[in-house]
Amino acid sequence: MDNDLLIDVKNLRVSFHTDEGFITPVDGVNYQVRRGKTLGIVGESGSGKSVSTRALTKLLPKNAVIEPTSQILFYQNGAAQPLNITPLSPNSKEIRAIRGGQVGMIFQEPMASFSPVYTVGNQIIEAVRQHRHAAASPLAATATIGSQIDESIRAGNKKMSKLEARDVAVDMLERVGIGNAGLRVNQYPHELSGGMRQRAMIAVALSTHPSVLIADEPTTALDVTIQAQILELMRELQAELGMAIIFITHDMGVIAQIADEVAVMYLGAIVERGPTRELIEDARHPYTRGLLAAIPSLDRLDTRLSSVPGDIPSPLERPAGCLFHTRCPHRIDGTCERFAPERTEVVPNHFVRCHLYR
Ligand SMILES: Nc1ncnc2c1ncn2[C@@H]1O[C@H](COP(=O)(O)OP(=O)(O)OP(=O)(O)O)[C@@H](O)[C@H]1O
Ligand SMILES: [Mg+2]
Repeated sequence: MDNDLLIDVKNLRVSFHTDEGFITPVDGVNYQVRRGKTLGIVGESGSGKSVSTRALTKLLPKNAVIEPTSQILFYQNGAAQPLNITPLSPNSKEIRAIRGGQVGMIFQEPMASFSPVYTVGNQIIEAVRQHRHAAASPLAATATIGSQIDESIRAGNKKMSKLEARDVAVDMLERVGIGNAGLRVNQYPHELSGGMRQRAMIAVALSTHPSVLIADEPTTALDVTIQAQILELMRELQAELGMAIIFITHDMGVIAQIADEVAVMYLGAIVERGPTRELIEDARHPYTRGLLAAIPSLDRLDTRLSSVPGDIPSPLERPAGCLFHTRCPHRIDGTCERFAPERTEVVPNHFVRCHLYR
């Protein structure tokens, strides 16, 4: 048994009812999230990175449907069976305990995760008091989901006092590089600059000591120094708490610094996945190779991903066969436009969906 396994995503499919029709922008995604490890997810805009990870906390728009055959398995310490959250309502007790508790989230748009009517400090204090307990060790909180609240009541864990939680808030704001944290803690989100709001949101997500952090392009809008500082903070907390991270980005340099494993998404599917070094040095899928092509050398990973020639097909017109065949320079005529490639393990833990590697 794999004791470090926290989340196992199996055949995840997410569809949307739209005015133009029914679309499936996430179609058959598989990956595992492990304690203390970072999974990087890369891919062009619209490839389904945000939708697929938002499904893990059921934070999806109303017109979204997670196909019932999908499995999103949360492993809990001590539990005989993992919890499949696919059938659970977004408002269920279990999902509310996961969201902001076991799973912390940082989004592309910082304003969306703040309430405008509470100070930044109060939002951290609220999250900390709801999800962290005065007496519990940080790791105890990582283990359980639905039973977390009942368990802690049984165990007699007291809520953290407001003063204690305020100290946590100030400390967290300092750690993400917000100066005058003692003052900022009393301000409202609109009183902060964009970059500061981004960092405050990161502070909120990290303050509850989640066992899994989903970071959706968390540093894109920040300058390089702050970005490095945030990545360093994430690594520190990862080492301290054994936190797992799902890190979504367009930036291969960031992936190389932070990810243990990389998943490359194209039109809602993972076309290649493998250990970071292995994937960067020996990419197999023509799409991954295209993404990496602009990087002059492996010592110069601080270059943004180039875009691959050709247009991304509309979600309403998903190509038959291999999803990438309309843009692929190595297309095998008669095969790629007709048959969807199976997933092949080219070397241990390195998977690719491409007819070139059958
Ligand atoms: N509310 C919605 N209604 C209908 N379709 C949606 C909705 N939200 C997202 N989609 C579809 O899902 C697809 C995947 O979107 P997603 O936001 O996951 O992409 P992404 O990989 O995160 O892109 P980016 O890099 O720009 O953030 C989009 O192309 C869009 O067609
Ligand atoms: Mg996105």
